Amino acid sequence: METINIIDTPKHVNELVKIGVWLTDKRSSGKIAFLQLRDGTAFFQGVVLKNKVSEAIFETAKKLRQETSFWVTGEIHEDARSKFGYEIQVEDLEVIGESEDYPITPKDHGVDFLMDHRHLWLRSSRPHAILTIRNEVIRATYQFFNQEGFIKIDAPILTGSAPEGTSDLFHTEYFDRDAYLSQSGQLYEEAGAMAFGKVFSFGPTFRAEKSKTRRHLIEFWMIEPEMAFMHQEQSLELQEKYVAFLVRNVIDHCKDSLETIGRDISVLERYTKTPYPRISYDQAIEMLTKSGMDISWGTDFGSPEETYLADQFDQPVFVLNYPKAIKPFYMKPHPTREDVVICADLLAPEGYGEIIGGSERAVDYDYLLDQIKKAGLDPDEYSWYLDLRKYGSVPHSGFGLGLERALTWITGEDHVREAIPFPRLLNRIYP
Ligand code: 4AD
Ligand code: MG
Repeated sequence: METINIIDTPKHVNELVKIGVWLTDKRSSGKIAFLQLRDGTAFFQGVVLKNKVSEAIFETAKKLRQETSFWVTGEIHEDARSKFGYEIQVEDLEVIGESEDYPITPKDHGVDFLMDHRHLWLRSSRPHAILTIRNEVIRATYQFFNQEGFIKIDAPILTGSAPEGTSDLFHTEYFDRDAYLSQSGQLYEEAGAMAFGKVFSFGPTFRAEKSKTRRHLIEFWMIEPEMAFMHQEQSLELQEKYVAFLVRNVIDHCKDSLETIGRDISVLERYTKTPYPRISYDQAIEMLTKSGMDISWGTDFGSPEETYLADQFDQPVFVLNYPKAIKPFYMKPHPTREDVVICADLLAPEGYGEIIGGSERAVDYDYLLDQIKKAGLDPDEYSWYLDLRKYGSVPHSGFGLGLERALTWITGEDHVREAIPFPRLLNRIYP
């Protein structure tokens, strides 16, 4: 007899199989017990008929407590009434680990309670579905960039640089000197692009932002591609192709998970069509002021502004060329305007805000050195980065997609904390 996973049961109809499972819920009467089972790969039902098993097994089945682990042996049958479509007709049960009173019951719990029990909550169907989709986004990311001829260059986590500004750095000690946790791998990816052409990184990044919003994590994962010999317009084409590819793959490979969380696939379909609309920062300001919002040129957008702008389109929208004063030092200056840089943020529909930040990079040594000084950074810390402009500097562009922001949008969740297994938030580093 084969030991299999629930996900593979459709290939074993009418066969006797053995599966290691946990109990999520149960219901029983005098003659029949319905066991809700999970094994990590999927959720399905076990049926125990009193007249088909020994008295002892039926009694064991009736007494099983939530989250008890056990081996279940039985025949796989089709079950058109259930969502999964198959069930197991139980013949034998062998308890592996008893369970104490499980804190997460099928009733409603508050968010703090669930987050305090995140290590257990991961077992429930909703987080399970969201994190399954996260895995698909990661898988599709590697597929996409491999297909496009990129190679993965890993950026360090411990660094001496602050590409995204010094206000939200996580400080740490590095033996007898200071170091910071990475805010972005970008500067290292730029070095990688000069060595390999097209590169990307995927790793954790850290921002000590005192923001308690639905969009901010303290630790989040970013995908950062960087392309040599590429101007901003080609980078935007790559970005929309990538995002559409992610959504396409989630629709095609995560139907069950999307159904579990109640995400409307017809809405997601809209995001698989490219090109995405593009507006300039100037146009965005005009749209916002016309709508009666109190914002002037030169100000960065907050959540209400991003939501309003995104609501004017039914696809993600690129906002191009923000004021130089509110963007990092490394962005390419506009060829004819002093006040803006060649960059774009991609705003997700449905109020999810910025999911990508990217730009063409400044290539001129003197300009960049000047910008580094103006940003209050120590040029010595960046001399390696400046070297990239000394030895065959070329036009290049790149961007960063926040995995959890993108996943929150794709899954339609309310809060970015749902999109990562163990969120680090302003007030949470447990569990
Ligand atoms: O716009 P950001 O700060 O851009 C960079 O870090 C660039 N160096 C990227 C690059 O060009 N290689 O961050 C990029 C993305 C944002 O668009 C957002 O999706 C996500 O990272 N992000 C966050 N996600 C969750 N919590 C936070 N606190 C985030 N801050 C940024
Ligand atoms: Mg940004």
